[in-house]
Amino acid sequence: MISHPIKDGINGNPAIPGDKSISHRSIIIPSISNGVCEINNILKSEDVLHTLNAFKSMGVVIEEEKEKILIYGKGLNSLKKSKNSIYLGNSGTSARLLTGLLSSQKFDSILTGDKSLTKRPMKRITDPLSKMNAKIHTSNGTLPLTIMGSSLIPSDIELKLPSAQIKSGLLLASLNTQGVSNIIENKITRDHTEIMLESFGADIEIKNENNKKIIKIIGEKELTAKNINVPNDLSSSAFFIVSALINSNSNILLKNINNNPTRNGILLALKKMGAKIKLFNQRSDNNENICDIEVTTSELNGCELGPEFADLMIDEYPILAVAASFANSPSVFRGLKELKVKESDRLKLIILNLQKCGVECNTKDNDLYIYPSKSYDIKDNIIKTDFDHRIAMAFTIMATKIGPLDIEDSDSINTSFPTFIDELNNLGGKVL
Ligand code: S3P
Repeated sequence: MISHPIKDGINGNPAIPGDKSISHRSIIIPSISNGVCEINNILKSEDVLHTLNAFKSMGVVIEEEKEKILIYGKGLNSLKKSKNSIYLGNSGTSARLLTGLLSSQKFDSILTGDKSLTKRPMKRITDPLSKMNAKIHTSNGTLPLTIMGSSLIPSDIELKLPSAQIKSGLLLASLNTQGVSNIIENKITRDHTEIMLESFGADIEIKNENNKKIIKIIGEKELTAKNINVPNDLSSSAFFIVSALINSNSNILLKNINNNPTRNGILLALKKMGAKIKLFNQRSDNNENICDIEVTTSELNGCELGPEFADLMIDEYPILAVAASFANSPSVFRGLKELKVKESDRLKLIILNLQKCGVECNTKDNDLYIYPSKSYDIKDNIIKTDFDHRIAMAFTIMATKIGPLDIEDSDSINTSFPTFIDELNNLGGKVL
């Protein structure tokens, strides 16, 4: 796929799909609740469809209509053993959350995934689960996993890594475990699971003590279905936000965007760089913050972001690095170790591909340094993505300024944003 430079700016109201993290949870939690749940605006991307098919394969009745899906939940213990192993494609969120949930079921399961997912670390979820006595077999700490479902022991577990996937896996395991478990976080991670569990009536209590967040959950309380409107995805929006900021004569309006404070670091970071971003119609639906966002072409300044930003925007560094390449001074983004174990080694690919574009940048001790210039000489226009959707989308946007760039393996974009190219072209992009 080739993305070309544009002349007339990025303008219009792009249709952003439903939030990916909330969409996964909107399948998992209703599937183990009681009653019919109607879910509107769910993201129909490959990752989310893998979660959906996993629950269908475990006997959950799910009806798919054009704009909504209906899930007929029958309670915490209603899932059935899948006839085949459960294939989760590229989706780390599905893998970590399902590992937790399935470890406390009364049947065994096997989880598998694609080339990238089967390389990603799973001990980060299986180790804390083993403290609850979960029985999970993995040959080298990666997928495939064989999960021998059993009754778990309620436990107090402090997270070693800031990860919403690990936290959520442990919460889902505790939900079906008799007794009190406490999951303790030292750093902020996205809290969509806690928000949804509370609204479905889980016995959950959240306290903040000595800079730690303690989530107390009393297991075996049945959940009650509630309808869900999935807000639109801020991580997907970020590609268009940056495209409008860096291209002259641009103005876009993004509607109904999730603005959860545990997730919105990209807006804070870009504003710190001088971006003209206006939030309005700020509201809340089922305790998720939502707003509309207007973005106008801006002169960006470089900035320094500490590791605390990584907790609030880990998925947005590829596109933030593109923004920083067009700022009028250098930037340093600190504490990006977790970027190395995403769908690809994103830190390595950001550096490699920015350098191909002629941008001076480097990394030291997991910090990323970017030294922007007024113009760039492309050294090699083939962008290596290792099938990572966010690398592919970030460099598609890079090309709107300095292209043409040939984005390798761009089909990966379907894992999170199947309509990305059409939306970009509608706004003035030139992707062929
Ligand atoms: C996600 C959590 C994050 C994020 C991922 C989605 C989630 O991963 O990078 O894209 O939905 O819980 P970690 O938990 O590994 O930080």
